[in-house]
Amino acid sequence: MKTLEKRIERRTLLKLIAGFAGSCWLSPSLLQAAERTQIKKNIPVSNESLPVIGMGTSRTFDSAGNSQKIANLEKVLAQFFSMGGTLIDSSPMYGSAEQVIGTLLKRVEAESLFAATKVWTDGKANGVTQMELSRKLWGVERFDLMQIHNLRDWRAHLETLQAMKAEGRIRYLGITTSHGRDHDELYEVLSNHSFDFVQLSYNINSRRVEERLLPLAMDRGIAVIANRPFARGDLFRMVKDKPMPNWVDEFDCNSWAQFFLKYVVSHPALTCAIPATSKVHHMLDNMSAGFGRLPDSGMRKEMEKAFKQLSAA
Ligand SMILES: NC(=O)c1ccc[n+]([C@@H]2O[C@H](COP(=O)([O-])OP(=O)(O)OC[C@H]3O[C@@H](n4cnc5c(N)ncnc54)[C@H](OP(=O)(O)O)[C@@H]3O)[C@@H](O)[C@H]2O)c1
Repeated sequence: MKTLEKRIERRTLLKLIAGFAGSCWLSPSLLQAAERTQIKKNIPVSNESLPVIGMGTSRTFDSAGNSQKIANLEKVLAQFFSMGGTLIDSSPMYGSAEQVIGTLLKRVEAESLFAATKVWTDGKANGVTQMELSRKLWGVERFDLMQIHNLRDWRAHLETLQAMKAEGRIRYLGITTSHGRDHDELYEVLSNHSFDFVQLSYNINSRRVEERLLPLAMDRGIAVIANRPFARGDLFRMVKDKPMPNWVDEFDCNSWAQFFLKYVVSHPALTCAIPATSKVHHMLDNMSAGFGRLPDSGMRKEMEKAFKQLSAA
């Protein structure tokens, strides 16, 4: 898959610098990052480009009824869009997350939302009802991407999604899994049916998908979204108090979050990663991974070695 490095627009650049300057975490190298380029990759089926860093909402956005948390999430979301973010991933499985997204999309300037959610129920009719409820909760005219969550009743939903795509009621269809679950079945499904996107767990400490699923996605021209890019935060605990290798400057990396995200999205099969956060300064950090250079294949091997050594020490 071809990496598109596109010059960030001046307006976005200024917002980016303002965001950095307003944060409690600021370094000269981060300011330099603002002058770098936003990294995008193409969705194979359409050649539409997507920023390589999107946003997940599991747990972090399940906050309906808590006005303090919602006020904070508004800032998180505003930070995401101000740094050129587009793809937001959710699911009816994530409690009140879709309701909170809908509330906040009305409040923030969402310049170029790429709305992605999932169908997570049994039976065709239930799926149709659930997807319509999600659409109302988000307050969008249509979803850009509708995914079958964890392969649940995929045969019933695939037919519905194909019809919805043909009628222009969704733009792309996909299927998801996580943490090593159902890989054999997913391989069969992707081999025998036509999907635009697959979403799976991939991070520097969990690389099984490199063996069969990522090569298959490349062969079949399927865009890949990486969920759990931080293994739900475990990766930070594994390198706690450890300094990063000094060569990370070579790919414009300023933090462990950027190290983990740049590792994920530099795999040639990957289209984007969807880290989740409830904190504005973490959103800044994560979005910064979507700028500047990515590690090449040689550097990725060095990253794997360094992570193994540091996390074992
Ligand atoms: N089967 C599926 O379809 C499936 C399965 C799993 C996940 N997903 C999707 O993938 C998304 C991401 O996965 P995930 O939420 O499970 O886990 P994740 O993104 O790997 O990790 C989230 C954790 O990392 C922490 N974090 C985020 N940015 C950080 C930073 N810069 N520095 C330090 N800590 C940071 C967050 O805490 P703070 O809030 O403190 O930042 C949170 O505890 C989900 O939200 C969901 O949308 C889909």
